[in-house]
Amino acid sequence: MKKILDLLTEEMGQAFAAAGYDAGMGKVTLSNRPDLCEFQCNGAMACAKKYKKAPIAIANDVAEKLAGNRMFGSVEAAAPGFLNLKVSEAFLLRYLEEMETDPKFGLDMPAKPKRIIIDYGGPNVAKPLHVGHIRSAVIGESIKRIYRYAGHEVIGDVHLGDWGLQMGLNIVGLQDRKPDLIYFDESYSGEYPEEPPFTISELEEIYPAASARSKEDPEYKARAMEATVKLQSGVPGYRALWRHMLNVSVADLKKNYASLNVEFDLWKGESNVQALIPDMVQYMKEEGYAHESEGALVVDVKEETDTREIPPCMILKSDGASLYNTTDLATILERMNLYQPDAIIYVVDKRQDLYFEQVFRCARKTRLVKKDTELKFLGFGTMNGKDGKPFKTRDGGVMRLENLIRETQEEMYRKILEGREKGHEISDEEAEKVAGIVAVSALKYGDLSNQASKDYVFDLDRFTSFEGDTGPYILYTITRIKSILNKFKEQGGNLSQVALREAQNESEKALMLQLTQFHAVMAAACEETAPHRICAYIYDLSNAFNHFYHETNILKEEDEAKRSGLIALLVLTRDILETCIDVLGFGAPERM
Ligand code: ARG
Repeated sequence: MKKILDLLTEEMGQAFAAAGYDAGMGKVTLSNRPDLCEFQCNGAMACAKKYKKAPIAIANDVAEKLAGNRMFGSVEAAAPGFLNLKVSEAFLLRYLEEMETDPKFGLDMPAKPKRIIIDYGGPNVAKPLHVGHIRSAVIGESIKRIYRYAGHEVIGDVHLGDWGLQMGLNIVGLQDRKPDLIYFDESYSGEYPEEPPFTISELEEIYPAASARSKEDPEYKARAMEATVKLQSGVPGYRALWRHMLNVSVADLKKNYASLNVEFDLWKGESNVQALIPDMVQYMKEEGYAHESEGALVVDVKEETDTREIPPCMILKSDGASLYNTTDLATILERMNLYQPDAIIYVVDKRQDLYFEQVFRCARKTRLVKKDTELKFLGFGTMNGKDGKPFKTRDGGVMRLENLIRETQEEMYRKILEGREKGHEISDEEAEKVAGIVAVSALKYGDLSNQASKDYVFDLDRFTSFEGDTGPYILYTITRIKSILNKFKEQGGNLSQVALREAQNESEKALMLQLTQFHAVMAAACEETAPHRICAYIYDLSNAFNHFYHETNILKEEDEAKRSGLIALLVLTRDILETCIDVLGFGAPERM
């Protein structure tokens, strides 16, 4: 469906042409002065020189051509040459009616949908998820949903870190605690037990301890490296332990992600592509892409136009070991083989920016991808505490994601009970359930409402507030609408029989105008991979709705056709808000 700005621009262009001016001057934009008009066109000023005429005279000529036009409610030429525009209520109604009948509210589907892989989450096996992982999961999930809504085929891959030194550290850490486990007996050749020899909590204690010790004790680190090599070369007991760690860890990760409505299509990881590495390296050598440098194997990726130093992409270390790079390149190879994606998007900490630049250039140069395959790095900034430093627990440790979610839920629960003191009816049980749902909106909206690449401050009190630019405010608006619709039904109203009507006053028209922006915003969010555009939109839309709500007696409206029009407007507002929060990755309760 055409964007409202495009329709107005077309009409305006025709008026310019009819008045003898260049039709290209008719560009219409949202108004800078909402107090004066809804839209504006500055074309008269832009072409004054060309026609050697005062801008206001041109604006007057154009306005004259639009007299009686059905699209515009008013067209005013204003000094020095603005065209101040309002659309007609009838045009606005027709536009919304068309949106309302479309399952995507006017968003055009792509002629040729793309297949897109999104690499996000990126947790590491046997290391607890911490807040650093929250952004990748939250942003990636939203981008996945935005592209899907926009008609593309999207595959989300968690890309587990399941192959590096951390696995060796876990193995030696476990060996210290339970040296008698059968897995460490290299003479053993039978089957290994199906039950894992540790719980997730044990596993989570093992890694930090082993990691800390390896930093102080070189011998210990050497042991961990040896264990990593043994694991990678396929020693059966180590492989069996690794499999247990993977299973225990993945079950826990899934539970954590589920509490954030984050879901992956693929649970692949670094280990999955190790078998592809030898052939890939061979190919890079044979084709002359890779060469030796100080014993290591590298691919040069710098370009003449570079304004910063881009070091070569290292494929193998001098001891022949592969690296994080090598695995990412092999993963690209595998993804191309299995899925032939049109694009791969990586949602990773922006500090890995240079790293991905090297990997992408290397993948292009060595033709792992097709010429038109898009490789996109979506780097995100850090989640900081109020002190402006990376977010920590009160005692200075790394905050576990689980605890962050729990703290947010507790704060939400407290705020909901506060509301109960003010007269909101809600049972303890429902308050707890609602707090869970609203907490997810607080965390996710708090994150997504910022441009992804920027750092932001995690402010629990602000994020959980029912007022201002927050998730709970949006949900509060939605539940307010739902509660009116429920009352309407209780009074015998039928939602399938209501019909939109022309706006009766300014606040109603302002709400209708906000609704018209939905598909333009969704298209832009998709184009720019920018969930924050949707947050900004639903904040404006919620404000427009609440303003309208305070000015209007919806259920007390006696004129039945008018009441029906108001209810239909509520239904459309609810549906658009719920569509938006769904692509952001959270939902609304029935009431709160
Ligand atoms: N596991 C990595 C980390 O914790 C993130 C993985 C990002 N994705 C990728 N394809 N390299 O830093």
